[in-house]
Amino acid sequence: MTEAPKTEYDPRPVGVFDSGFGGVSFLRNALVELPSERFIYYGDNKNAPYGSRSEEEILLLAENAAESLVDRGVKALVVACNTATSAAINVLRERLSVPVVSVEPAIKPACAMPGDGKVLMLATLATTKLSRYRALQSRMPDPARIINVGCPGIVERVEMGEIGETAFDDILSERLSFIEGAKIDGIVLGCTHFPFIAPAISRYASMHFTGECRLFDGNAGTARQLKRVLNANGISADPELAPDPQVLFLTSGDKDALEPIFEMLLKVPIGY
Ligand code: DGL
Repeated sequence: MTEAPKTEYDPRPVGVFDSGFGGVSFLRNALVELPSERFIYYGDNKNAPYGSRSEEEILLLAENAAESLVDRGVKALVVACNTATSAAINVLRERLSVPVVSVEPAIKPACAMPGDGKVLMLATLATTKLSRYRALQSRMPDPARIINVGCPGIVERVEMGEIGETAFDDILSERLSFIEGAKIDGIVLGCTHFPFIAPAISRYASMHFTGECRLFDGNAGTARQLKRVLNANGISADPELAPDPQVLFLTSGDKDALEPIFEMLLKVPIGY
């Protein structure tokens, strides 16, 4: 009788990083998609927001964050920050010794929506300006359907744990009043901090736009991509194991002050 081939599993953790807490919205999807994996989450909270910084600064910060996770022995890295992806993904892929997966604004599924309305892409100022995102937009069937809006100020509030439904009306109205009454088919949450304020964005959209205003983010797709990459590299965790604890939180900021906000964001309902 021939013995069944022995399958090797890799118990090392996956590293996830963001400028701060935004990547927690990705982590939530990853925990559902990959319940046997361990994760180390690194929030560069001390240096958030990245979105108002120059490309060079973002690249440097992203490299530092990524290297600190690789030094901890992660087997793969997720750039759970659209801004860092736009500024640094090519360099990170070139320099790091582990597979790198990244989030990107989900304009593709949003642009696949039928209809003659616009697609509104909300992100950081940096993402909307950087050439990587602009190139992604130019590959859409009708790039002019997309309205890009950089929304400074939102990340700072989410970083403090502020995610209330009415807490963003001032910023949203300042950034979006120029398209008052527009027909919007889809709204892309092109910053990983924004799924946490989906109720605030939906509320604003229902009062100021027409159209379906369906929300999109890239987190679920990125979690599926991570699963494929782990499998393809033969570095998945043993599916029989449920690691405990599953997530280790690291930050460049004050860990004692920030961990309760991390825990809250990991559990708060996000429904759309
Ligand atoms: N969460 C980030 C993103 O997805 C960056 C936010 C920031 O630091 O400005 O773009």
